[in-house]
Amino acid sequence: MHEPYRIKIVESIPRVSPASRRKALVAADYNTFHLDASSVEIDLISDSGTGAMSSDQWSAIAAAREDFSGQDAHARFVAAGREIFGFEHIQPVHQGRGAENLLFRLLLERGDSALSNTFFETTRANIEALECRAHDLPDESPPFSGNIDIRRLQRTLNEDRRVKLIVITLTNNVNGGQPVSLENLIRTRELADEHGVLLALDASRFAGNAALIKQLTGSRRSVKKIAREFFDLSHLAFLSCKKDGLVNIGGVIAFNDRSLIRPLSHEIIRQESYPSAGGLAARDLVAMAVGLSEAVDDRVVLDHVAKVRFLADELLSRGVEVFEPVGAHGVVIEPPSDLKHAPHALAAAIYLEGAVRVGVFEHSVRLAIPRRVYTRDHLTHVADVVDRARRRKPIILNCVHNPDEFFNFFARFKPAPGPGR
Ligand SMILES: Cc1ncc(COP(=O)(O)O)c(C=O)c1O
Repeated sequence: MHEPYRIKIVESIPRVSPASRRKALVAADYNTFHLDASSVEIDLISDSGTGAMSSDQWSAIAAAREDFSGQDAHARFVAAGREIFGFEHIQPVHQGRGAENLLFRLLLERGDSALSNTFFETTRANIEALECRAHDLPDESPPFSGNIDIRRLQRTLNEDRRVKLIVITLTNNVNGGQPVSLENLIRTRELADEHGVLLALDASRFAGNAALIKQLTGSRRSVKKIAREFFDLSHLAFLSCKKDGLVNIGGVIAFNDRSLIRPLSHEIIRQESYPSAGGLAARDLVAMAVGLSEAVDDRVVLDHVAKVRFLADELLSRGVEVFEPVGAHGVVIEPPSDLKHAPHALAAAIYLEGAVRVGVFEHSVRLAIPRRVYTRDHLTHVADVVDRARRRKPIILNCVHNPDEFFNFFARFKPAPGPGR
């Protein structure tokens, strides 16, 4: 299948010499998150907020009127949200973690518990900031390796009377976006109802999840229809639109419970802006409205999922071990050595080899693919760079700054003295 778009504006890629890469990596203390992005040729550190917008999005942006409240853009955004998510109330927020912060203050009290297939790290941090507990209960059996473990969920619900919330992350961010099955969501909703607990979706990659369900089950239903089935199974959803929503900034809280409207609006006034703006400009709201409708276009999302598979196949054909089954937004590779800080060392080696930036996620390296940005030629080049980098003698890193939270983002390293690095 070819890409379902053609390219109208291009951005040139800088050439970064080997000497400049070495200098940039030292300045970044061997953590690719600290690199100057202008020293990167191909950037696969995140698929969040890094996608390309369409000409329809840009023309809606240019036409949007910037008003303080009652914006046309808000009405358009709400209509798009209702159509896709099926909830009555569609609240814009400035990004996913803004939604988490606003919602959890309303849904949780100190000492409560929340359960998940796997919490994204900001989701967990926002729960723990309220002195609540966040438990991951992943199942991980393929092909729906993003599922929550139903047996452990049932047991935890029986044992812990303080569980108030189940959050299912779609796709499960760990390991490049593993899908959750509809059956798993149906069973989760049944258990949530039995125990009087809310079921919320962290739906930041909802279209990828629906696309993988479509592929894995051979369904003829559209991505939009499948996605609607899992929204219908939940009490509410929150999402960052910086991923499948195809925008560079923005997010949504979607719900039916009217009693949430007043406290949520008050929190938004206190922290963000007028509720119809949700901390965004009107141009951001229309970009989200158009982006969400493109997100559920089968061709758009299936093309993205196919590109992720393409990169995995390119790596596999060169003998690089990738995490299988491959997810919807990125390819995960294990470092070839078990030395301490081996994932950061591999990310550093890949950067040195070809100015390709990848991210360290948990204990592995993730090549996240920004939507509609890179061609298959770019990805073939990335596979060559990774292959050459992993054949070199591993870099040994010593940690010189060990933050007590968010290690992957903020750690700093120095290479152990040795030849060649
Ligand atoms: C699954 C998931 N939830 C929430 C977030 C937070 O969203 P944002 O970056 O828009 O704050 C992310 C960000 O990567 C994510 O991957």
